[in-house]
Amino acid sequence: MRSIMHARFRFVPPAGTPVNFTDVVGSIGAVFRGQDTVERFKADLCAKVGVRHCELVSTGRAALTVALLALKEVDGGKRKEVLIPSYTCFSVPSSVVKAGLQVRLADVDPETLDFLPESLERLDGERVLAVVATNLYGMPSNMEVWRRLTQERGVYLIDDAAQCLGGLIGGRYSGTWGDIGLYSFDKGKNVTSIDGGALVTDSDQIAATVSAKVQELRNSTVNESVSHLVKLLVYASFLHPRRYWIPNALPFLGLGTTVYRTDYPLARYDTWMAPLGHRLLTRLDVIGARRRAAADGYMKRLPWSAKLRSVQPRAGTVPAYLRFPVLVAPELRSKVLEALRHAGIGATTSYPSAIQDIPQLQGVLTPEDRQLSGGRDLAQRILTLPTHGYVTESDQDRIAVVLAEALGE
Ligand SMILES: Cc1ncc(COP(=O)(O)O)c(C=O)c1O
Repeated sequence: MRSIMHARFRFVPPAGTPVNFTDVVGSIGAVFRGQDTVERFKADLCAKVGVRHCELVSTGRAALTVALLALKEVDGGKRKEVLIPSYTCFSVPSSVVKAGLQVRLADVDPETLDFLPESLERLDGERVLAVVATNLYGMPSNMEVWRRLTQERGVYLIDDAAQCLGGLIGGRYSGTWGDIGLYSFDKGKNVTSIDGGALVTDSDQIAATVSAKVQELRNSTVNESVSHLVKLLVYASFLHPRRYWIPNALPFLGLGTTVYRTDYPLARYDTWMAPLGHRLLTRLDVIGARRRAAADGYMKRLPWSAKLRSVQPRAGTVPAYLRFPVLVAPELRSKVLEALRHAGIGATTSYPSAIQDIPQLQGVLTPEDRQLSGGRDLAQRILTLPTHGYVTESDQDRIAVVLAEALGE
């Protein structure tokens, strides 16, 4: 009885970053005081990750689309293909399509969540404009190698750190390893401003092209800004596990569902949201440390076996751990997911399919893209656990017990 009550009235959300009422009041206050936080946010983001140029736009998808449009222009429109992982966020292929380019897939290794090295060694520099590495769940991709392989073939590299702000490879921040990089500030991210995206680069040429493209975008509308403020109030009120069960019990909200769509707006960043993004950026190290502590806790506690495998971060990297990914035996995954949800834990099976199985992409992909197996394998095994600041040690103990029971360990 106690555990049912516990599950019903405490539900740990799968993702998010705690935002307190001081953040909300401070953000709204800054809007009314007319402070120009956008320039400070941009300057402080550049200083934090160590790049020279930054532009903000409406979403991470918009950032990736603008990055691709800029590279297409710098390249003179010659090359049209963009190589992306066969398992990643659906926003990645949708941004490629939105930029008028062709999605091509490179297979992933389910054990690392990153590209299979062989799939990039075959890279054709005549046709491929750019490779997008996506640092899934905040585990930094093998950027040193992807950088060498792309540079050897004259292909641009995009370091899509939408999920990896704060992650490091050899002391250098994720997002800064490519010709251009990006971050997302949506609701599930380390630094959230409900929506938003940033583009970062050290290349003067790419930066100038990106800035010109951002200038052409429309401003966010008053309706969008008001809607962001309302969402911020709801977010701050309901992300706490004591209250998250309320929105979680409303299926029509579609929380956490992934849909492929290209009809999102390309717009400038909502200036009303900059104070919140900027406040959270100043707390990035604390937010990251908390997530890494949660990941350490899982590493120590979970009942690892052939049925439950960990994804080890590469040596020399500091993951951002936006989520904690584990690999579960496919035949047991639904049972595990149900058991965790019943125990009040927002575990997820992440994206519903490999990229080659998205129906809207069927006319676009080649037969080689369609036969890749790593992404499909990963899509059947992946499970993510929450790492945000509301996850307690007792949640982690409970998760370990539930997993052991569900896996029959
Ligand atoms: C790898 C990757 N790229 C791009 C995006 C798009 O970001 P947004 O949701 O802010 O549009 C996401 C979204 O989470 C993502 O995971």
